[in-house]
Amino acid sequence: MAHRLVSGIQATGTPHIGNYFGAIRQMVQLQEKYENFILVADLHSLNQIHDADRLRSGTREIVINYLASGLDPEKTTIFLQSSVPAHAELSTILGSITSLGLLERAHAYKDALAKGREANLGLFSYPVLMAADILLYKPEVVPVGRDQQQHLEITNDIASRFNHLYGQTFSLPKGIILDEVATVPGIDGQKMSKSYSNTIGLFESPEVVKEKVMKIPTDSRRPEEPKEVDTLLALHRLISAADLPEIEEAYVKGGMGYKETKERLAANITSFLQPFHDRLAEINTKPGYLEDILVEGNKQANIQSNATLEEVKERVGILSL
Ligand code: ADP
Ligand code: TRP
Repeated sequence: MAHRLVSGIQATGTPHIGNYFGAIRQMVQLQEKYENFILVADLHSLNQIHDADRLRSGTREIVINYLASGLDPEKTTIFLQSSVPAHAELSTILGSITSLGLLERAHAYKDALAKGREANLGLFSYPVLMAADILLYKPEVVPVGRDQQQHLEITNDIASRFNHLYGQTFSLPKGIILDEVATVPGIDGQKMSKSYSNTIGLFESPEVVKEKVMKIPTDSRRPEEPKEVDTLLALHRLISAADLPEIEEAYVKGGMGYKETKERLAANITSFLQPFHDRLAEINTKPGYLEDILVEGNKQANIQSNATLEEVKERVGILSL
């Protein structure tokens, strides 16, 4: 059987370079090696978005970003979580073997409450649906950013519990979390996130990139002084291949002011984003392209996931007539 990879992104806003480096780039690189199943987690998004137009446009936006980032529908099955009913069904089944304590310990849940988000059941049971997303495809690997590590651990806990109760059914998938991109900082220095208004989007114009980069907070060191590792340098390390040695040296020895460091970062981000803009322009010339990809992706995902769901139903004793 081919080695599989599963990952996904919620449709909660415009994807950004944090999503790209943390997760999407790995999905793109690994599509050469794995059978990729990449979803838009639109059901998950419902625990945060209660506006139909926003969810619809957010969903399309994720698919467009996947394609513009280089996911190739010939190699990767791109689909909507909501179009594959097995996700919701397996989530219900797994919910019955998941202890409340496991979910109460989830950092993402605790952080969301601390930030004033509504404590709804969907938010609380988020990791159970995510476990279903993953386990249905029996993947070997799941590339994600560091903030999803605990969710993967919960997935493995749930899978182990299922195996213990009903016999070996799921193997435990491994996370692919790359240290150097595990948490990309946003323009305010916190983790870059769709929910924090601190992002640089993949289709951002040069003007907006510059405006945002200029806002990155810096300390009061003068150009000739050495600098501490900060958000600016962290972003340069991701983006600025050619002039990175010079910038690293200026941080250690001094000799470059924050203004120039920011201008260079903005220019490098703009060049980095150019291929994304080019692919977007191409996608926009093909009416119905997105829909065609999703219809095919949904079909493939239904085939794979129904096979696992049937096996699960058999194991737990649900009659399938
Ligand atoms: P967001 O926090 O922007 O809403 P999601 O929760 O939809 O992002 O995350 C989608 C994927 O991108 C996940 O694998 C997540 O770990 C990764 N990711 C999100 N933000 C970052 C970041 N700042 N750095 C690295 N990876 C990230
Ligand atoms: N929880 C992930 C996030 O917020 C999105 C997601 C949903 C996911 N289902 C998944 C990621 C399955 C990997 C595999 O980023």
